Amino acid sequence: MTTPAHDDTLIEAAAATLRDGGLVGFPTETVYGLGGDATNAEAVAAIFDAKSRPRFDPIIVHLANTTQLETVTPGLPPLVESLARAFWPGPLTLVLPRSESIPAIVSAGLPTVGVRVPDHPIARRLIEAAGCPVAAPSANRFGCISPTTAEHVRSQFGDRIEMVLDGGPCRVGVESSVVDLTGPVPRLLRPGGVTLEQLQEVVGSVEVHHGVQPIDQAAPSPGLLARHYAPSTPLVLVDSIDLAPAPRSGLLTLTRPDSPDDWSRVEVLSESDDLVEAAAGFFAALHRLDAAGLEQIVAVRFPETGLGVALNNRLQRGEAHDPAGSGPTSGGV
Ligand code: TXA
Ligand code: MG
Repeated sequence: MTTPAHDDTLIEAAAATLRDGGLVGFPTETVYGLGGDATNAEAVAAIFDAKSRPRFDPIIVHLANTTQLETVTPGLPPLVESLARAFWPGPLTLVLPRSESIPAIVSAGLPTVGVRVPDHPIARRLIEAAGCPVAAPSANRFGCISPTTAEHVRSQFGDRIEMVLDGGPCRVGVESSVVDLTGPVPRLLRPGGVTLEQLQEVVGSVEVHHGVQPIDQAAPSPGLLARHYAPSTPLVLVDSIDLAPAPRSGLLTLTRPDSPDDWSRVEVLSESDDLVEAAAGFFAALHRLDAAGLEQIVAVRFPETGLGVALNNRLQRGEAHDPAGSGPTSGGV
């Protein structure tokens, strides 16, 4: 069931579903989440199962406000306060020491927990009404394209989840930035909705983790992950459009190409070169291209600045896998 979620009774019904150990799809400002009670190991196991997500990939815990932090982490590393003040509610996940109230399955057995306060009224009302921290990965099947509308969630899960709250399209459109605060210096594990430049303004230097997430290296075999690449249409990442495309090719691009008629389908993300606008429409455009019956999707690399860093990261992770083994080895977008 997909529901327009303005109404308190719907939010209360969704909160009751969470308290009963059920799963609820809900909007955040980044992408839709697939939520379950973070203190209930069975509910969290059901999230992994519904997504077909490998158990070694930890899940983010969502809070209604910063005060709830003390229920999920025993101690606050320095910098939490300034980062929370600057970016919460918002698209920043902080990796902190994990309290025992959060079962190990949430964090794939790690002694840490990823936490964020989302900036979406429905998400916050839902978490508040549930009265528990809410574990929620992006509401896509493992390795598929992230969902930025309730319809994306419904088409990937159908009846497998109890309820989807509909908050319309997500405002930011790309997942949160994940910053690990458990080491000597803050470490950016995943670029996302808060840019590196914004983080540096608040905390000074940030170590950037390049390449695949360390967690992926625990995979029993990289080939196992390669099967999960998204989208299902082969995606090719290019620096610029130099040649006329092969037949039945689609184009994902920030600005309008010189010869749009060469392409079977073109998705222009921002007429005015605006990376914020581009991020907001990015996954929906990828969903449309993937549904268009194309032979390949060609994506033009974004400028490597601001939100462009997060968008390029998602494209690299979704790029067509090279069966010879020299292609990318991280999980899908
Ligand atoms: O914007 C978002 O972050 C969305 C919305 C729903 O909040 N959620 C999301 O979750 O993107 P997911 O599961 O698709 O991605 C979570 C990322 C993964 O890369 C995971 O490895 C990392 O966060 N993560 C979570 N907990 C962690 C931990 N304790 N240590 C290291 N990485 C962690
Ligand atoms: Mg995800």
